[in-house]
This record gives sequence, structure tokens and C-alpha cells, in this order.
Amino acid sequence: MSVSDPSSSGAADVPQRPGVRAVVRLARRRGPARAAPLLTLRAARAGVLRMRRAVEQVVNGSSHSLFLRALVAQPARVGAICASSPQLAARMAAWVDPDAPGLVVELGGGTGVITAALLARGVAPQRLVVIEQSPVLARHLAQRFPQVRVVQGDAAELALLQRAPDWPRGDDGAPRPVHCIVSGLPLLSIPPQLRQRILQAGAQTLAPGGRLLQFTYALRGPSPWQVTGLSGCARERVLANLPPARIDVLQRPHLG
Ligand SMILES: C[S@@+](CC[C@H](N)C(=O)[O-])C[C@H]1O[C@@H](n2cnc3c(N)ncnc32)[C@H](O)[C@@H]1O
Repeated sequence: MSVSDPSSSGAADVPQRPGVRAVVRLARRRGPARAAPLLTLRAARAGVLRMRRAVEQVVNGSSHSLFLRALVAQPARVGAICASSPQLAARMAAWVDPDAPGLVVELGGGTGVITAALLARGVAPQRLVVIEQSPVLARHLAQRFPQVRVVQGDAAELALLQRAPDWPRGDDGAPRPVHCIVSGLPLLSIPPQLRQRILQAGAQTLAPGGRLLQFTYALRGPSPWQVTGLSGCARERVLANLPPARIDVLQRPHLG
């Protein structure tokens, strides 16, 4: 019989847990009838505390609430009311060749829905680099995907980030080329000047013949990436997302 045993009404063989000892002493001095309400009160208080801690953990630690907090802090930068659906993420990943050489760079990793889909697609974690500007989200990504290189930084600085010492390097010591860019950046809500720098940096970093994927909620019109010289080769609508989205598939021309 223990305190948590509902069939128990006495306090004589209650285990000596901290906080319970005082009640046991009271029961011995004044009798179990006087101690029982106190026990019930303590158990109820402990229950409330446990529940509050559990709720706090969910609210502060879940991917969804992290996303909402990032959205409230920087609405234009986050640019969506919730993370992409697993369906959209899987369709983005389906355009990535997991066996192609070089790196896959994800821009705007958020809470990691697309990162997870890329890994599920078979992209080796050592070939994946995720750029995320929000420190909170970048920390979350690094914890969620310890084998993936997560860089807290601005996609507009991609060309610089590629030259940083911690960028994955080949046997010759040179930065590994980027053969695929997967962008979840909210290009349409990013201010035009910054958007222009992001577009230039991405197009410049992508290796010749490399592929770029961008999802957008604008279901019509050209991709903003086309102004950089990338050519559109396919597009796909994904209705199973809030809001429905379009995936643009672009390619950097081969050299020569
Ligand atoms: C629409 S959310 C998409 C998140 C995730 N990829 C998904 O599909 O759920 C856009 C993300 O891009 C990040 N972001 C916005 N501007 C950025 C920039 N200049 N550089 C890096 N990340 C950026 C935001 O912090 C946010 O996490």
C-alpha cells in the first residue's frame, strides 16, 4: 500500500517521501482522520504542478509553438502561419536526387519539416546543410538533426557562408559544391532589396547544372529565381498544404 494507492486510507505504512513525512507525523499525533484531507490537498497540489510543467513543456518545446513564436517575432521573415505539411515537404524532397554528388543546401529550415523529408528521401545527413536565420529555430534544428550541418545565418550571405571554415570540404580542402538548393524562404514577403541579395547569392552558389526548388503560395506567375538566369523546368501544385502551394523546379545552365 502506498500514498498513490486509492484503496489506502491510513498513513501508517506510507513510504517516507519528502513532504509526506510531515503528514505521517500528523497522522501519528492526531489520527488518520485529521491527516487525510491534508494528504488529499498535497496530492492535488502535486498533480496540478505536474500538469502545469507538462503543459509548459508542450507550449515551449513543440515544433508548432516554436514556429508560432518565430512568426510573432518576425512575421515577414517567417511568412507562413504554420510549417509546411508533410505532403508538401515530401513532394519537395521527391525532386531531389539523393545520389547526385555535392551538397544539398536547404534555405529557411524552420522547424525541420523539409529537412526530415530530405533525410527520408535518402539524402545523407553529411551532404545536407541547413541555413536558418532565426537563432531559436536554428538551435531547434541542430538539436533535432545532430548529424546535419545547421548554420544560423542569412541566406543572402550564402556565398560567404560557403567560404567559412566550417563549411563541408572535399578531400582537396575546397568547399564542396552545391548541387541542389531547396528553398522554403518566403520570398514574396521578404523586402525587395534583401530578396534580390538572396536570389543573387543562391544562383551564384548553385553549381552549373544544379537544381533549385522553391515553394510558394502564389499559384500563378513566374518564379522570382528566373531573373537570376535560372531556367524553370517544371512546376507542381500541392493542394494538401495550408495554404495550397506551388513547387517551382529550376536549373542553372551547364557551362559551355
Ligand atoms: C515559411 S517558413 C518555412 C519553414 C520550413 N522550411 C517549412 O517549410 O515549414 C520560412 C523560414 O525561412 C526562414 N528565413 C527567412 N528569411 C531567411 C533568410 N534570409 N535566411 C535564412 N532563413 C530565413 C524563417 O526564419 C523561417 O524559418
